[in-house]
Amino acid sequence: MPKDNLYSSVSLGALNLPNRIIMAPLTRSRADADHVPTAIMAEYYAQRASAGLIVAEATMAIEGNSAFGGREPGIYAEAQVAAWQQVTAAVHAKGGQIVLQIWHGGRACHSLLNNGAQPVAPSALPIRNDTTHTPKGKMPYETPRELRDDELPDVVNGFRLAAINAKAAGFDGVEVHGANGYLLDEFLRDGSNQRSGSYGGSIVNRARLLLEVVDATSLVWGADRVGVRISPLNSFNDMLDSDPVALTAYVAEQLDQRKIAYLHLMRGDFFGVQKADVVTPARVGFKGALVGNMGYTPAEAAASVQAGTLAAVAFGHHYVSNPDLVERIQADVALVEPDQSTLYSPGPRGYTDYPTMTVA
Ligand SMILES: Cc1cc2nc3c(=O)[nH]c(=O)nc-3n(C[C@H](O)[C@H](O)[C@H](O)COP(=O)(O)O)c2cc1C
Repeated sequence: MPKDNLYSSVSLGALNLPNRIIMAPLTRSRADADHVPTAIMAEYYAQRASAGLIVAEATMAIEGNSAFGGREPGIYAEAQVAAWQQVTAAVHAKGGQIVLQIWHGGRACHSLLNNGAQPVAPSALPIRNDTTHTPKGKMPYETPRELRDDELPDVVNGFRLAAINAKAAGFDGVEVHGANGYLLDEFLRDGSNQRSGSYGGSIVNRARLLLEVVDATSLVWGADRVGVRISPLNSFNDMLDSDPVALTAYVAEQLDQRKIAYLHLMRGDFFGVQKADVVTPARVGFKGALVGNMGYTPAEAAASVQAGTLAAVAFGHHYVSNPDLVERIQADVALVEPDQSTLYSPGPRGYTDYPTMTVA
């Protein structure tokens, strides 16, 4: 059976996975108002511990102008570290492994969710034609303040401290969030990065901040416990790049030199605007473990593993509503679709109450 390919062990750097089915990072907004993880988050992640690896949701690396939804978790404060310890212990108790996606929201943040602080970004370009949820209802995105070059060491250091805290919280590694139109991705792509100087212009310059963050977090963890997620084609958050294939090729090659644990590639665009094959340049440039994501069916995932293109596949929306996805794919049972209305709502409904499959 081709799907059997998903059930062999694989190493992502120092992370040894029992299977190749990864839980993709999923923001679910169940932390408290101080960005402290709640007890139901431990239950939720433990329910999904049979995944070869869990990538925990986008988590604020840095306090201040980096929150975009209000109830996303953080990893910059002691109380957050203590609460994450409950999560990692619950996952480990069920034999699972979990890395933390460390993140800065960049221009997708709103001052009303950040004590009045203006959002920051590579350039003073707002997300256009879209609104964001704020305590005062839906509002247009704000024009961000352009970060000065001399502020960027603080950003790198913030990610470094987040990596240290993730270690203290008992994670098995970290994933640097370089995707989906948040700060590091905003630097990568020329639709949002129109800076001059050493962090703007050429691909080499635009990738500099991401690579500095990778180097700083690798010093904390060892590169073999650091993963990186990119989405060179995704136009979500008003993102665009003039040459996503060349960008992918350069980033892949740079990450290959750094011998990171894995490259996590979102291969497409939520809205189908930008189309290209970014899997091939990623595969050519990065010789380590390539993790694919976006729209994979279990059959396609297995075929990509069999072809040697991917080491593993991350599933997103399936993991919202199928806590035992690993077992379900193996048993060939129908997958449950997520309830969209409870994706970001508070409390256990639509979060910890999706049942495991019933075996007849
Ligand atoms: C509810 C929800 C929350 C998400 N949150 C994150 C996140 O925190 N970080 C991230 O990199 N991607 C996030 N994504 C994107 C998913 O990780 C994944 O890339 C996307 O669902 C496509 O994979 P799929 O086709 O298997 O669902 C989110 C997606 C959904 C549906």
